[in-house]
Amino acid sequence: MKIAIITGASSGLGVEFTKTIIEQYPKLDEIWVIARRKDRLKNLAKHNPDKKIRTIALDLGVDEEYRKLEILLADVKPQISILINNAGYECSGNFRDMSTSDIQNMLSVNVKGLTMVQRICSPYFAKKFY
Ligand SMILES: NC(=O)c1ccc[n+]([C@@H]2O[C@H](COP(=O)([O-])OP(=O)(O)OC[C@H]3O[C@@H](n4cnc5c(N)ncnc54)[C@H](OP(=O)(O)O)[C@@H]3O)[C@@H](O)[C@H]2O)c1
Repeated sequence: MKIAIITGASSGLGVEFTKTIIEQYPKLDEIWVIARRKDRLKNLAKHNPDKKIRTIALDLGVDEEYRKLEILLADVKPQISILINNAGYECSGNFRDMSTSDIQNMLSVNVKGLTMVQRICSPYFAKKFY
């Protein structure tokens, strides 16, 4: 089974990436969309009833949450044709005014989350792209 995975698919660029993948790669069997806001992911699926879109609610700033993706991949064993590792955010305002917890959370999502998603997905990358 060939799939695409898009993280941060609940808004902004992630929604646009997802729409583009649906349009450009119609032969993919499933599209997996990841973010915390499940309602928005479900809405994306609802607007694309012809596609099998799997909505996965994960907080990529929390270590234990990667494990859920790892378990799902081990269970389904898909071939990942496309990974859009897009989830992330930036705190706005002056760096010196940001709280330590805000900075640490931003690093957890943007650096650790992104790296771990790449690592967890890498054994499943399709040898032939599409
Ligand atoms: N737009 C720009 O000009 C720009 C410039 C440079 C870099 N970027 C980067 O490009 C990416 C997309 O930007 P955007 O403008 O489309 O931002 P956005 O509209 O705020 O979307 C960010 C996405 O990341 C998800 N996300 C944030 N924290 C998460 C977490 N802890 N766990 C799982 N998902 C999380 C959000 O979903 P939930 O809130 O539902 O979890 C959302 O779907 C981000 O990584 C951003 O830093 C954007």
